[in-house]
Amino acid sequence: MRMIPNYELHDGNVIPLLGFGTYKLNGAQGVISVDAAINNGYRLLDSAFNYENEGAVGEAVRRSPVPREQLFITSKLPGRHHKYDEALATIQESLYRSGLDYFDLYLIHWPNPKQGHYVEAWQALIQAQKFGLVKSIGVSNFLPEHIDRLIAETGVTPAVDQVELHPYWSQPDVVRYNNDHHILTQAWSPLGRANAVLQEPVIQEIATRHNKSVAQTILRWELQLGVGVIPKANSIHHQLTNLDIFDFELSTDEIKRISALDRPDGMNKNQDPREYEEF
Ligand SMILES: NC(=O)c1ccc[n+]([C@@H]2O[C@H](COP(=O)([O-])OP(=O)(O)OC[C@H]3O[C@@H](n4cnc5c(N)ncnc54)[C@H](OP(=O)(O)O)[C@@H]3O)[C@@H](O)[C@H]2O)c1
Repeated sequence: MRMIPNYELHDGNVIPLLGFGTYKLNGAQGVISVDAAINNGYRLLDSAFNYENEGAVGEAVRRSPVPREQLFITSKLPGRHHKYDEALATIQESLYRSGLDYFDLYLIHWPNPKQGHYVEAWQALIQAQKFGLVKSIGVSNFLPEHIDRLIAETGVTPAVDQVELHPYWSQPDVVRYNNDHHILTQAWSPLGRANAVLQEPVIQEIATRHNKSVAQTILRWELQLGVGVIPKANSIHHQLTNLDIFDFELSTDEIKRISALDRPDGMNKNQDPREYEEF
């Protein structure tokens, strides 16, 4: 079994730095994929209320011989349920859907700042943590200005900020802010959802030098930036190769060259958290 490094969150809980994304893995086929991922060595499974697959993830967890306490399950609160009472009920509903007793991590999926309810949602997550429904609490797609407000109004800092991050959109300011606050940045779409970045000549050249694939080189670059990754892979070959990134190291120069691919229009679907809303 490959050793996935862990990271100690500011609340003392420990999270694997490499996990398995489950967006689009639903129903019986989803259970088969997630079950395979656990068998292949993944321990962190990233789900969300809005992926409509908390049931499939929970079913795979129950089928697995790996004890529940060795797995790390994340889910996320949708934007339509930010109001305090609705948020608490939704976390409970997430647990019922998954059939689990607790989540290891629960995130506010999007800040939806124009709606103005994310602080209320955060208060509900703080309460859910006190109830023992979730072990750690965090946010997703939050910018420093949003996190500043959470800290100012509740005194509680998120443990994790899950954001879009890949070579075309590497968000160095967000990563720096999160590091300064002992918040783990976790990259969603770490492979750019298999877009043109996988054909990027600079990364191809670096990958060839290390005898690795472009995808492996990108994941390694993210880990060396101090960022957690949750690549999604239905293919067993992808599942296995994405785990095989702990036997090589990129040089400082190689990291800089990949980071230099960052570009102003690099977001995959133009989902700018200042404007974009998801319910
Ligand atoms: N918080 C949020 O707002 C948010 C938003 C988006 C995603 N997420 C989370 O982040 C996870 C990952 O992001 P994502 O699913 O958008 O994109 P991704 O992980 O960057 O890319 C997934 C795509 O890459 C392919 N792939 C995986 N490994 C590969 C490899 N080694 N070589 C070539 N292709 C490879 C997959 O193909 P196959 O499936 O065919 O193997 C799939 O088409 C999601 O599943 C979800 O859990 C969170």
